[in-house]
Amino acid sequence: MVRVMDLEELEQDALKRNIPVMQKEGILFLISQLQDMKATSCLEIGSAIGYSAMMMVTHVEGLQVETIELNDERYQEAVKNITERNLQDKITIHHDDALSFDVSQLQHAPYDCLFIDAAKAQYQKFFEKYVPFVLEKGIIIVDNLDFHGMIFDIDHIKNRNTKQLVKKIKRFKDWIFNHEDYDVEYYQIGDGICVIKRKEKE
Ligand SMILES: C[S@@+](CC[C@H](N)C(=O)[O-])C[C@H]1O[C@@H](n2cnc3c(N)ncnc32)[C@H](O)[C@@H]1O
Repeated sequence: MVRVMDLEELEQDALKRNIPVMQKEGILFLISQLQDMKATSCLEIGSAIGYSAMMMVTHVEGLQVETIELNDERYQEAVKNITERNLQDKITIHHDDALSFDVSQLQHAPYDCLFIDAAKAQYQKFFEKYVPFVLEKGIIIVDNLDFHGMIFDIDHIKNRNTKQLVKKIKRFKDWIFNHEDYDVEYYQIGDGICVIKRKEKE
């Protein structure tokens, strides 16, 4: 019988193969947020090989994760990982582009948490498309907002594509921090994480 790797080994294996998974500090922070609010549902944009989804459901009691992955190989690997660990009742995974995904297929809406961890240039689009499916008191978590610290020194970025990408991340950050409907808390954890909440109505 083939031995199933534990999640720690899976994370290390993914990193060796250059598959981007959430940094340890970041995932532990996300889990603590979900535990504190006793979340029962989370929608994740960007599953990769299912690491963060599996970490969430194995650490947060009663949590259902629904997750969307565009890349074919990663989706297949995520399905394999989830099935091998018998977590298919707790994780629903869709193989699609989250930007064109038919939202009528969402199975666990409305969600306590929306976790955005896919193409960084598209953060605002993901946010605007999926925020209507977040509960009034729910949270939106966005990772990688510092982009390895580059966001603080855009003028010195030499590579043109990287510069464009970092500018887009900064645009999202400025947009959300100045949005009249949301409160944003920034945490210097991992690569920079924001927790976004709707402002209380007066
Ligand atoms: C940083 S990785 C996700 C890591 C994962 N959340 C984890 O920590 O284990 C980002 C993933 O988003 C996927 N992605 C990028 N654009 C996407 C889109 N438009 N729709 C769905 N997935 C997308 C990429 O293929 C990639 O696997």
